[in-house]
Amino acid sequence: MKRRLLDWLACPACRGAITLTRGAPEADDIHDGELACGACLARYPIERGIPRLVPPALDAEVRATVERFGYEWTRFAEIRPEYEAQLLGWMAPVGKDAFAGRRVLDAGCGKGRHLRLAAAFGAKEVIGVDLGPAVDAAAQNTADLDNVHVVQGDLTRPPFRLESVDLIYSIGVLHHLPEPEAGFRALSPLLVPGGRFVAWLYAREGNGWVLALVDPARRLTSRLPLRLVSGLAGVVTVPLWIALRVLYAPARTRPRLARTLPYASYLTDLAPFPFREVHSIAFDHFLAPVAHYIARARVERCFAEGGLTLESLRWHHANSWAASGTRPEAP
Ligand SMILES: C[S@@+](CC[C@H](N)C(=O)[O-])C[C@H]1O[C@@H](n2cnc3c(N)ncnc32)[C@H](O)[C@@H]1O
Repeated sequence: MKRRLLDWLACPACRGAITLTRGAPEADDIHDGELACGACLARYPIERGIPRLVPPALDAEVRATVERFGYEWTRFAEIRPEYEAQLLGWMAPVGKDAFAGRRVLDAGCGKGRHLRLAAAFGAKEVIGVDLGPAVDAAAQNTADLDNVHVVQGDLTRPPFRLESVDLIYSIGVLHHLPEPEAGFRALSPLLVPGGRFVAWLYAREGNGWVLALVDPARRLTSRLPLRLVSGLAGVVTVPLWIALRVLYAPARTRPRLARTLPYASYLTDLAPFPFREVHSIAFDHFLAPVAHYIARARVERCFAEGGLTLESLRWHHANSWAASGTRPEAP
């Protein structure tokens, strides 16, 4: 943990100021130590270079969600070049320029694949927060970047000071919360007035097949051992990958073929990915105990509950929402 990260941290229990109570006090990078809240006296460890500001009582479903994603991201930890175009697709019309010189928070950073991109887009400081063991993969994947920080914490009780970041993005995370609105309510006060919030979410609209087949299967597979789920996802990936190569890859340049294929907008984008990446995407859909497919009106409500002004709500790939808004300037 870089020492200057202390400027952003706050106690997740009471929002009190956090100080370093153990760990080389002069070091710029603290590998092992302890943080403490000056107000409620709660203590939080720094382990393997990551401050672990995890609230004491976690709901069993939330714990299972983040543990299971942690397994995915530590098993499929690699960073691929395709992630840049994918992230820009999920965020558009917000683009790279939104990062330049900004303090940025990645809410639910997983293995940290977007932290590297945020830094490359010119962010001043980037903080990734995730509640699960994925933080260890994120820290390893960003260890060479001086302006990237990784924190273990719950985004519904975020361990950060209010009004301390300029841009929050959350990709594929808020629909896995028991109540997605709670994520918006908790994160938005971290933005400075005028700061921007970008979220990519599963849509209810356009996901008929997923709601009919994948979601009922997920309710079962999310209770099964992860090695078994990964194996089952591998089996599902075989026909999917063949379809991607045989049908969806040619459809990228043949619009008439694309019009005849289901989920063409989404699956033509996946066609260039290698088998292993498609396997990880399939695995991702079967492991989570909670997955909401969110209707447009509910996305609007999430932004409103966060006190955010919704500026763009785009139906991405005709099966998900790319939404962005801002925290209003103070009157
Ligand atoms: C589908 S993954 C997306 C990861 C990353 N945004 C990406 O696109 O690569 C969802 C992530 O959200 C994290 N997560 C879920 N609930 C969370 C919470 N309450 N606080 C912080 N992270 C959470 C999970 O641990 C998981 O890594």
